[in-house]
Amino acid sequence: MSSEQKVVVVTGASRGLGEAIVKAYRHRNFRVVGTSRSIASSSDPDFLTIRGDIADPETGRRVIDAALERFGRVDTLINNAGIFIPGPFEKYTEQNYKDVLATNLNGFFFITQNAIAAMLKQGSGHVVQITTTLVEYANSNVPALLASITKGGVTAATRGLAIEYASRGIRVNAVAPGMIKTPLHAPETHEAVGMLHPLKRMGEPEDIAQAILYLEDANFVTGEILHVDGGQIAGH
Ligand SMILES: NC(=O)c1ccc[n+]([C@@H]2O[C@H](COP(=O)([O-])OP(=O)(O)OC[C@H]3O[C@@H](n4cnc5c(N)ncnc54)[C@H](OP(=O)(O)O)[C@@H]3O)[C@@H](O)[C@H]2O)c1
Repeated sequence: MSSEQKVVVVTGASRGLGEAIVKAYRHRNFRVVGTSRSIASSSDPDFLTIRGDIADPETGRRVIDAALERFGRVDTLINNAGIFIPGPFEKYTEQNYKDVLATNLNGFFFITQNAIAAMLKQGSGHVVQITTTLVEYANSNVPALLASITKGGVTAATRGLAIEYASRGIRVNAVAPGMIKTPLHAPETHEAVGMLHPLKRMGEPEDIAQAILYLEDANFVTGEILHVDGGQIAGH
């Protein structure tokens, strides 16, 4: 095993953005640990997959322990797992509220605690969240208060953690996508959804992976919310 090979943990790695992020890091020759509830096993010795519900604190512990056991370190954590339930605020159910908070907030909190503990021992590390431009730029065409609450929390936590750990070698950043072509959006909606962006099209999963690789290399960048959103953050 080459001691130079870095290790990244990607949550929500079974499909969509997570799958593209895994591919991008493997292309960079990182060792990868991917997790989700239904992720398939892997025949690639440098891609370890672990099943679990990210809302369960035990999953975060298990995934980081497995990364340390198999690959010896955790250089980067990508907090990508998340669910999106749009809809009018007054129509949300209690179950919607519980599900979105559990996946998007517990799912960020517990694995990040475990990863940062490992990074502190190493004296270096990088954590990236996937948020959304809807946090800063609410859109009357896409009411999604549960996304605002949870991704807003994660956006605030990105800046908070960036400052808390800046002097100890750990950077913390986020990528805020616009609408990206993943299984989250049915193909028949792509054209209409694309028109919600100043660039008049949806993004591709590779656009998000590329932004994450930029942050990976950007040693002087921490506390940044990088918008990859077809211009939405600038206006309409
Ligand atoms: N696509 C977009 O337009 C867009 C825009 C802004 C932000 N985002 C954010 O980007 C992230 C990825 O979105 P996506 O479009 O790739 O969504 P997706 O295609 O629905 O994929 C979501 C991933 O998260 C995993 N996941 C969901 N709930 C989980 C749980 N409780 N425990 C563990 N894993 C769980 C899923 O795997 P399993 O089902 O196997 O668990 C899957 O791998 C999400 O945080 C989303 O909010 C997406």
